[in-house]
Amino acid sequence: MTVVVAGGNRGIGFEMARGLTQPGETAILGYQRDEASAREAVETLAKDGITAFAVQSDMSTPEGVAHFISEAARLGDGSIRVLVHSLVRVLQGPILEHDVHEITSVLNVNAMSLLWLVHAARPHLDRGSCILFLSSRGSTRVIPGYGAVGPAKAFAESLIKNLAVELGPDGIRINAISPGTQDTQALRQVYGDKTDEKIEASRKATPMRRLATPKDYVALSRFIVSPEAEMLTGQTYMVYGGTDLI
Ligand SMILES: NC(=O)c1ccc[n+]([C@@H]2O[C@H](COP(=O)([O-])OP(=O)(O)OC[C@H]3O[C@@H](n4cnc5c(N)ncnc54)[C@H](OP(=O)(O)O)[C@@H]3O)[C@@H](O)[C@H]2O)c1
Repeated sequence: MTVVVAGGNRGIGFEMARGLTQPGETAILGYQRDEASAREAVETLAKDGITAFAVQSDMSTPEGVAHFISEAARLGDGSIRVLVHSLVRVLQGPILEHDVHEITSVLNVNAMSLLWLVHAARPHLDRGSCILFLSSRGSTRVIPGYGAVGPAKAFAESLIKNLAVELGPDGIRINAISPGTQDTQALRQVYGDKTDEKIEASRKATPMRRLATPKDYVALSRFIVSPEAEMLTGQTYMVYGGTDLI
């Protein structure tokens, strides 16, 4: 069995790969540019006793995604138990100030690639397989500088509902996890030199007075992909510590 994570070389995707891969399974980590992180991720997982492979592919096109999945099938055993979409590309500033082709390419990475991933992976998914998409508050709220990400999350959350209905009869489930603020490269690209300030404000605004950690969202993800969660599909699960209630 294989755990395949698009965007698994660093950040949240890496934590998902690390937390979801079971003994004896293979982790496949997809990435585009950050080769050093990919190498480090494979080494870290090896120290945890997990066999992992990093696969470089530009997932802004259907062909790039298809290449990633065919490599994942070749390197693993061809059977995907968990498929995670943790890809994000940030465009700083107002979207109307960017070239439309650039925005389209970024939206392809953030949104369309989920559809392409499920399409390409479908022959490798079987009863009990699960797909997880990393979403965020931006799916329903306007966050300054997040215009190329928020609408992609809204698209994906709706797509997940449609795919859940199509995949359900075959025993395949799809859900989204929304983990709240995490200190990653993507977050630092959104907020630049205001990132530390934003993280602290986010922590203070959270009723639990701390940010969610990988332990929090990985534990939830582990449950969602488990057989015990067989009736959970087509949903978005927020790990916000109550911030969304205010
Ligand atoms: N950080 C947060 O506060 C937060 C909160 C809620 C949800 N999320 C979501 O969690 C997910 C992971 O985000 P993160 O914060 O962990 O970001 P991150 O550390 O910046 O990771 C982004 C990943 O996307 C990959 N990627 C980007 N464009 C690609 C392309 N064209 N082809 C292949 N791979 C590509 C990157 O690969 P390279 O390393 O090679 O560039 C990297 O693995 C995203 O969906 C994000 O929206 C994040």
